Amino acid sequence: MEQYGWNTKRVVCLLSMYIKHEKMYNRGDILSIVYSITEEKKRDSITVIILAAGEGKRMNSKLPKVLHEVCGLPLVEHVIGCSRELGCDEPVVVVGHGAKEVMSKVQGVRFAIQEQQLGTGHAVMQAQEYIADGDVLILYGDTPLAKAETLKIMQEKHRQNKYAATVLTADFDDPAGYGRIVRDLEDNIVSIVEEKDASEDIKKIKEINSGMYFFEGARLREALGKLTNSNAQGEYYLTDVISLLRQEGLKVGAYKTQDHSEIIGINNRLQLSTAGELMKKSLLEAHMLNGVTIVDPSSTFIGKSVKIARDVTILPGTILEGNTEIGEDSIIGPQSRVRDCIIGNGVKIQYSVALESTIGDETSIGPFAYLRPGNKIGRHVKIGDFVEMKNSSFGDYSKASHLTYVGDGDVGSNVNLGCGVVFVNYDGRKKNRTIIEDNCFVGCNVNLVAPVTVKKDSYVAAGTTVTKEVPEESLAIGRAKQENKEGWAKRFK
Ligand code: UD1
Ligand code: CA
Repeated sequence: MEQYGWNTKRVVCLLSMYIKHEKMYNRGDILSIVYSITEEKKRDSITVIILAAGEGKRMNSKLPKVLHEVCGLPLVEHVIGCSRELGCDEPVVVVGHGAKEVMSKVQGVRFAIQEQQLGTGHAVMQAQEYIADGDVLILYGDTPLAKAETLKIMQEKHRQNKYAATVLTADFDDPAGYGRIVRDLEDNIVSIVEEKDASEDIKKIKEINSGMYFFEGARLREALGKLTNSNAQGEYYLTDVISLLRQEGLKVGAYKTQDHSEIIGINNRLQLSTAGELMKKSLLEAHMLNGVTIVDPSSTFIGKSVKIARDVTILPGTILEGNTEIGEDSIIGPQSRVRDCIIGNGVKIQYSVALESTIGDETSIGPFAYLRPGNKIGRHVKIGDFVEMKNSSFGDYSKASHLTYVGDGDVGSNVNLGCGVVFVNYDGRKKNRTIIEDNCFVGCNVNLVAPVTVKKDSYVAAGTTVTKEVPEESLAIGRAKQENKEGWAKRFK
């Protein structure tokens, strides 16, 4: 049982559930139940191995290929997401080129290291210890458009027909560069022949190997042990497993997809942008069908992890990135960038940038506001034009309507900051906090020299530089007294 990840506790729990059905079981029955449970588990388990050790020379980049992004996520993360949709929580990623960097950036997976890139078969051999019995799916780290729905259908066929392997194929008008699918007279797949090893006749075949396969784990392990590198490239080809299985007399299937986009591999930045276009389009379409109005899809970018409630309107020129969430009836844009923000309902953000902040219901941001990371902004707040805010809290019904800097501040609720208020948070060595309690009114052109507190229900007169605590319900005024010199101008002229 242990080998299937079943501990005794879990089996006992399941058995007691069976027994609750008011039947009595003898020892034989119980053993057969345990057997059927483990068999069921075997059938349902799926191991995904993602090959990502290649160099990706044609990207012409310092960054490992699979870390290049489309729609705000590294290529390999899209493939990992697809694996999870198929029920594999911890896929195995085979890394080689740039292994350290990939391993430091990608989380929640198991890694196998391929020191030298000796071919796709060799890459899978490095993950041998993770190959359990049951379904094993091989994917590439550079095919971000791989679709879980298609792979699910393929898996069904693989199981129903009890195939030892099933290959995802497609008919390409220009099959150059791909492995070709060779079939026998009964139309069964016999082998995959790489372009470099292909005769002129085989090169004419239009059906290509996508590089995605389901294998029966035990069969794959056996076949990997028999791979050789006697071919044009001197590599261990994973594709040779197909003919090896056929030679054993086992059944091998091919599942042909009509949607070529889902098997596009990214080799250069042109393909990166093409894949980005396709993915962007399908993400925007999904949001629109979910009830989001997107006024100008061509100038709107929405990252893959962004969540948007219904009746939100996205105006032109808007970029939504990271783990952003937007509540109902909000209007975002035009020309705004929002990254990693949690936005409530009925929020308006126009011509602004908002990063790593939370924004409460019915709050209005911009035009031309800049929310740097770390703000917690309440409900019914107004952050107006040319206001910059960072690492601050800003209470419900408070306002900073124009030309204000709120840095490292804790502003209560119902506070009004006049035009040109500056939180003087930096003393040249460290950042200090400014606290403004509830119901305060801070006049125009006020400097608040931190650390400093304005206690609740107080006023600060325009032009004041606050350097010490303002007590509750008082007025702070600190500016030179005005003197009028009558007749001065006339004399001066
Ligand atoms: C492979 C297939 C070919 C198929 C094509 C589809 C083989 C022998 N050929 O060819 O039939 O039509 O994909 O795109 O499998 N990788 C490693 N380690 C290695 C070699 C490759 O991890 O030693 C990874 C690469 O990072 C890449 C993937 O495997 O993600 C495919 O490798 P690549 O060299 O592009 O294979 P192709 O020659 O294109
Ligand atoms: Ca390739």
